[in-house]
Amino acid sequence: MTQPSTAKILVTTRSFRKVPGKHQEVLAEAGYELVNSPQDRPLKANELGALLADPQIVGAILGLDEVNSAALEAAQALRVISRFGVGVDNVDLAAATARGIVVTNTPGANSIAVAELTLALMLALARHVTRHDRAIRQGNWSVVSGMELHGQTLGIIGLGRIGQETAQRAAAFGMRILYYDPVPPSPEVVSALNATPCTLDELLADSDVVSLHLPLMDETRNLIDADALAGMKPGALLINTARGGLVDEAALYEALAQNKLGGAAFDAFAKEPSTGNPLLELENFIATPHSGSATRQTTLRMGLMAAENALAVLRGERPVHVVNPEVYQR
Ligand code: DGY
Repeated sequence: MTQPSTAKILVTTRSFRKVPGKHQEVLAEAGYELVNSPQDRPLKANELGALLADPQIVGAILGLDEVNSAALEAAQALRVISRFGVGVDNVDLAAATARGIVVTNTPGANSIAVAELTLALMLALARHVTRHDRAIRQGNWSVVSGMELHGQTLGIIGLGRIGQETAQRAAAFGMRILYYDPVPPSPEVVSALNATPCTLDELLADSDVVSLHLPLMDETRNLIDADALAGMKPGALLINTARGGLVDEAALYEALAQNKLGGAAFDAFAKEPSTGNPLLELENFIATPHSGSATRQTTLRMGLMAAENALAVLRGERPVHVVNPEVYQR
């Protein structure tokens, strides 16, 4: 494909644009003009399509924007979608492949940041940190007794990179680790983590804390539904720093409102932004705004990886982290 005279790369992700670093330098050094999203939030398909319609845009570094077939159809010269992140549930991969667009992502770059947020939420739930803070600000100095993590069982659903980082940190707190993963890591990794495999039902029944670390796909949508919630230990905690669609939020609302679960903390919601979500009315629910990757270190690491993935495709090379390898068989 002939490169337009001033080839451009669209960047939608806020932190990639706002945090200065090598990720921006390498794109500029390679001679690309950067087109910044006018919004600080993920773009809807029509907004993205309008930007991609620029015939000089050959690459796009995207966050959680709605990359559906309509947005891709509007694209004139796009050769690469470089996800600044790991999940690609927001990208219509089949449509990208059909148009010869390579999709890349940044696995591993955010594992530590997401695992640390998971532990932060676990501790905040276990010791009622946000609840106490809210009460004190309202003039109410009263103590709600909590739970020590030490000696409790953590059930990790999805023992990939983030699940493994979470397991290591939880083990340091003295937690026993169970996991459920249809595609488990190598036996060496599992044994180094001292993690015990089990079925999903066993994990739900035996865990004091359940933490989700799996992608959103047709098979995992609403994995934690009313039945799964009913199968959890009374008073257990649920943490979701992965994807909102993994949990039936209406069923979770009932379980929390009736105090069947001890609490839940979400960094990811079925619909984002999730500011009007009924879950936010509940005292035993903690929310963060999909900020799992939002650390300075991860922005730089993930940014450079995303920039290098995009540049590799534009140089005609095959990057390591291609999400739709079928695109090379067309
Ligand atoms: C990811 O890596 O998918 C995070 O959700 C940030 O996009």
